[in-house]
Amino acid sequence: MLTGKKILIGITGSIAAYKIPLLVRGLVKQGAEVRVVMTEAAAGFVSPLTLSTLAKSEVLTRLFDESSWANHVALGRWADVMLVAPLSCNTLSKMAAGACDNLLLATYLSATCPVIAAPAMDEDMWHHPTTKDNLARLSAHGVSVIPVAYGELASGLVGDGRMAEPEELLRYLDSFLANTVSLKGKKALVTAGPTYEAIDPVRFIGNHSSGKMGYALAGELARRGAAVTLVSGPTGIERAGPGVELIRSTSASEMATACFAHDDYDIAILAAAVADYTPVHVSDQKIKKSEETLTLELRKTEDILATLGGRKGNRQVLVGFALETENEAANAVKKLQAKNADLLVLNSLRTEGAGFGGDTNQVELFYRDGRRKPFPLRSKTDVARDIIDAITELIP
Ligand code: CTP
Repeated sequence: MLTGKKILIGITGSIAAYKIPLLVRGLVKQGAEVRVVMTEAAAGFVSPLTLSTLAKSEVLTRLFDESSWANHVALGRWADVMLVAPLSCNTLSKMAAGACDNLLLATYLSATCPVIAAPAMDEDMWHHPTTKDNLARLSAHGVSVIPVAYGELASGLVGDGRMAEPEELLRYLDSFLANTVSLKGKKALVTAGPTYEAIDPVRFIGNHSSGKMGYALAGELARRGAAVTLVSGPTGIERAGPGVELIRSTSASEMATACFAHDDYDIAILAAAVADYTPVHVSDQKIKKSEETLTLELRKTEDILATLGGRKGNRQVLVGFALETENEAANAVKKLQAKNADLLVLNSLRTEGAGFGGDTNQVELFYRDGRRKPFPLRSKTDVARDIIDAITELIP
């Protein structure tokens, strides 16, 4: 799959840069064309001469010198994929902010191809909230982030922050490129986040869903070439990734209307935590505190998944989510059948780090033919990839 592919590697100043010559050699061996840009700091960790010899192409570091100007726009357009590896904390912050004070950053900002980043840093830097924010920003801009590994670090400490090994980067690039066009021509519908059911002008019934899983799924579908509509409830996520049409909704009924208007999907993944009940009466004015108790009358909302299941054509793949606190498997199977879904993703609440809010999740897939596929705790981006892989196999 790598034969003839054009891979642009951006190297930044981190000790993990020593792994990149091996990656370049592996890529060239597999028939890829490789070009390398690096920051001046990176050149202190790995020699441009080693890299240019292995890549069989000139390694570029500076935007311009006395006699020439490096065409970063052409580089960003030349590549099928740009991999920034290792991605240092410094370059991460600059990429997140849109800074452009070297050739690598200028190339990143002009790249029309997908961009992958493989961070490398010490554990404390990796866990710093600013790093998390910057990574979330990059993901929201469509950059795929290869998670760091646990192990020995340059500081002598042992922890999270090691860049993936060259073989892993090779495998990642291979499957990334194989998947880029796998869903071209397909229409996908995704729901994400909670719904807010108004009680009065200032209060609502809601839930803790962050929307991260649904946004990750929408991003992954778009990355594989699908035309994606994401119907999102109220979340703190500012935007969806490139190639995703974002429709914002607030209540279950608004979400349902938006979904039913897009029922000509090939793949629908309903990851939203839709309220099952909504107030029968919404007060026009703020409800004043008076009696000791207050009773709200609620009625059932329309079940979007069940309605789409009822009208599903046999070329459509419909996927539901379930979050259970007891009898997880039995309830998951029941939901799958009752709502006529093709696949049901069971979220675990039992594992620490899985479920609402966080950046990781642990899921088990339930198929119509009775098969079950459990996965370990992984980043929500990786979980999205696993789920889309499973869905791709179900497309007729
Ligand atoms: N769902 C939906 N519309 C609703 C309620 C749920 O589309 N009004 C979808 C969710 O997006 C999810 C699946 O149905 O994909 C399961 O949701 P869940 O709340 O776990 O199931 P319920 O059927 O509501 O069952 P219960 O709350 O009793 O577990």
